[in-house]
Amino acid sequence: MPLLEITDMTVAYGRIEAVRGVSITVEEGELVTLIGANGAGKTTTMRAVSGIRPLSRGKIVFDGKDITRMKPHLRVLEGIVQAPEGRGIFPGMTVLENLEMGAYGRTFENKAVHDETLARVFELFPRLEDRTSQVGGTMSGGEQQMLAIGRALMARPRLMLLDEPSMGLAPMVIQQIFRIVSEINAQGTTVLLVEQNARQALSRSHRAYVLETGEVVRSGGGRELLADPSIKEAYLGVA
Ligand SMILES: Nc1ncnc2c1ncn2[C@@H]1O[C@H](COP(=O)(O)OP(=O)(O)O)[C@@H](O)[C@H]1O
Ligand SMILES: [Mg+2]
Repeated sequence: MPLLEITDMTVAYGRIEAVRGVSITVEEGELVTLIGANGAGKTTTMRAVSGIRPLSRGKIVFDGKDITRMKPHLRVLEGIVQAPEGRGIFPGMTVLENLEMGAYGRTFENKAVHDETLARVFELFPRLEDRTSQVGGTMSGGEQQMLAIGRALMARPRLMLLDEPSMGLAPMVIQQIFRIVSEINAQGTTVLLVEQNARQALSRSHRAYVLETGEVVRSGGGRELLADPSIKEAYLGVA
């Protein structure tokens, strides 16, 4: 049984169907990437999984449970945690306060679990530990992205949704972010990633789906798609 199973999902904004009849599965432990041009429906798909956008058709099953109509905050408690497109950190709060906001839904858990999770985030992002009292909005783009991922980790996700974490970052920082995403996955967190940076994403993904104008047009192993001539031409800037 897959950890996440999206079946025949359609998501609309008013009368416009941004995502049409999409079926995607993510197995426990996998790193799966959605690639596709601007406007293909990647963010809409992520929003449907996190519960921010309702489905007009289809269903979403997580860990065997139908969550199609479950409220977003309850999905977080199930373990579905999104680091949204554009990072969405709280700019006026400190690094530590931002991280604590991620743990907010988990306040019922004991302090030992909380401290262990925070230690893990600081291990992945030593820079955040050096800057716990810095105000989020004054950090660089790369640091803010690290904070957004760290905040999501504080909720102890079983499935982490990452929407374009490399967007707007310098090449060296992008490398760093991708390495950390791989590491988070290797440590046991299942990841559904959206990326425009298809080469990096595919090379690190177990599997990937290609979205075109709201529909899945291809899927396969990350390296398999990376080597595919039509994918190369359309998404990797190689004629
Ligand atoms: N809030 C919205 N209202 C109306 N249309 C939207 C909204 N958000 C996205 N869309 C449209 O839905 C389609 C898919 O958008 P999106 O999921 O953001 O694509 P991607 O993340 O792949 O760039 C696009 O045509 C976009 O214009
Ligand atoms: Mg998007």
